[in-house]
Amino acid sequence: MQRILVIGASRGIGLAVAAELLARGWHVTGTVRGSAPTPLRVLASDHPDAVEIASVDITDTAQISALRRRLEGRRFDILLVNAGTASPNQDETIGRTSPEEFARVMLTNALGPMRAVETLGDLVAPAGTIAVMSSGQGSIAENTRGGRELYRGSKAALNQFMRSYAIRAGGARPLLLIAPGWIRTELGGEGARYTLAESAPKLAELLLAQVGRPGLRYLDRDGRTVAW
Ligand SMILES: NC(=O)c1ccc[n+]([C@@H]2O[C@H](COP(=O)([O-])OP(=O)(O)OC[C@H]3O[C@@H](n4cnc5c(N)ncnc54)[C@H](OP(=O)(O)O)[C@@H]3O)[C@@H](O)[C@H]2O)c1
Repeated sequence: MQRILVIGASRGIGLAVAAELLARGWHVTGTVRGSAPTPLRVLASDHPDAVEIASVDITDTAQISALRRRLEGRRFDILLVNAGTASPNQDETIGRTSPEEFARVMLTNALGPMRAVETLGDLVAPAGTIAVMSSGQGSIAENTRGGRELYRGSKAALNQFMRSYAIRAGGARPLLLIAPGWIRTELGGEGARYTLAESAPKLAELLLAQVGRPGLRYLDRDGRTVAW
């Protein structure tokens, strides 16, 4: 049985990808924050042998370390760091953003994911994939329309940090930054272009295609390279 660890699997894209891989025969370890009921808990109670739930807030270093200790000795084929956030006020310019909101979004979208990658990465098999949920809005080259300045900046920072991580990793490890497309979730909103149902199989295929392919890629939902 192949195994995936999904950080941020309580709902939205993380939950949908977890459910998709479960349906394809994978074992899923998914994380939630706190102990409130989530759809992932329903999945776990329906599939107790194939779904395990752990808890982590990626902005809390101690919680990431505790998760690493809990998972000691495990081997995953894929680590997907999916957790992310956006600002409620998407139109606010970066110069008007409060330091608190700047810190919250950057911690959640850039520092937290990289701490998770650095702390949990050695649980992934050598040919396994470490994937991080970025966004097309993290692309500097494709920012021709502006807007969502803090979100864009946080994902661009994430991309840059993954480049540095890839250099440290030496090129042998499959690494992936995903631009999943605009998807109807709490973060994506009602008007988003794609449903979760049509996106989950594509994102699962994207993940599976990277296993055994060394190096860092920044890919969209169709497997096309996104300009950095
Ligand atoms: N939807 C889109 O159109 C779109 C497009 C491009 C990229 N993305 C990226 O895809 C990822 C998932 O987005 P989504 O649309 O599925 O959003 P979502 O429905 O709002 O779900 C966000 C997920 O991240 C988790 N999370 C947030 N902050 C966390 C933290 N500090 N620690 C641990 N988990 C945390 C949430 O857990 P809780 O339930 O505990 O809050 C939830 O599981 C994000 O990285 C997002 O930036 C989304």
